[in-house]
Amino acid sequence: MTQVFYQNSMVNILFCLLSSTVCGDHMEFKEVLEKRRSIRKYTKQSVEREKVNAIIEAGLLAPSAHNTQPWQFIIVRKSIPEIVKLLKEEGEKHPEDESISKTADTISRGDTLILVYSDRLESPDFTLLSMGAMIENMLLKATDLGLGSLWIGNILKISSQVAGYFGVDDTKHLVSAVLLGYKEKDPKPLERKTLANAIIKEEK
Ligand SMILES: Cc1cc2nc3c(=O)[nH]c(=O)nc-3n(C[C@H](O)[C@H](O)[C@H](O)COP(=O)(O)O)c2cc1C
Repeated sequence: MTQVFYQNSMVNILFCLLSSTVCGDHMEFKEVLEKRRSIRKYTKQSVEREKVNAIIEAGLLAPSAHNTQPWQFIIVRKSIPEIVKLLKEEGEKHPEDESISKTADTISRGDTLILVYSDRLESPDFTLLSMGAMIENMLLKATDLGLGSLWIGNILKISSQVAGYFGVDDTKHLVSAVLLGYKEKDPKPLERKTLANAIIKEEK
């Protein structure tokens, strides 16, 4: 019995060592929160499908107003250059907003782009709050799995072109995109608002 248990444990450990895809390199929750950063430079390593699925599944666990779960996704891999081209063209039309073409360059360095859609129009505020909670879950899961990620709002600048390209009907609304890849390096630390600066008032 003890021997069987020992053998099973060894098999599990070996399996985990061989397959970080399944077991992941899990971090402490605090570390995940602190490590999550916007990553804009990625290596050429591709992101495993299992990890993409795990990231979307983490999103699916998010709270949503009235449990509407308004989210839907398109997973983009080979069409990333097309999205980059569309965003570059949009950036050329709006030279005053440099962030559009910068975001296009960033997308070109990523491996997988998840387009995040909502299938609701009513209560747009509640829907957007729910979508934000869901996207943050995705970013935290990506961090937990050792991946870099970026929340991309600039994708909204080309929502109609993207809908045309993928044949998305007008019952679905593009809300954001999440870029994934293996990060080249950790970004420089970013100063955060302190607790004292964030609290307006605290009652005794
Ligand atoms: C709603 C939203 C939209 C964003 N859109 C973009 C974007 O289009 N391009 C980009 O490079 N970063 C984008 N970001 C990333 C922010 O610039 C980043 O979160 C912020 O500078 C803080 O840095 P950190 O994520 O490393 O903590 C977006 C973030 C949020 C929350």
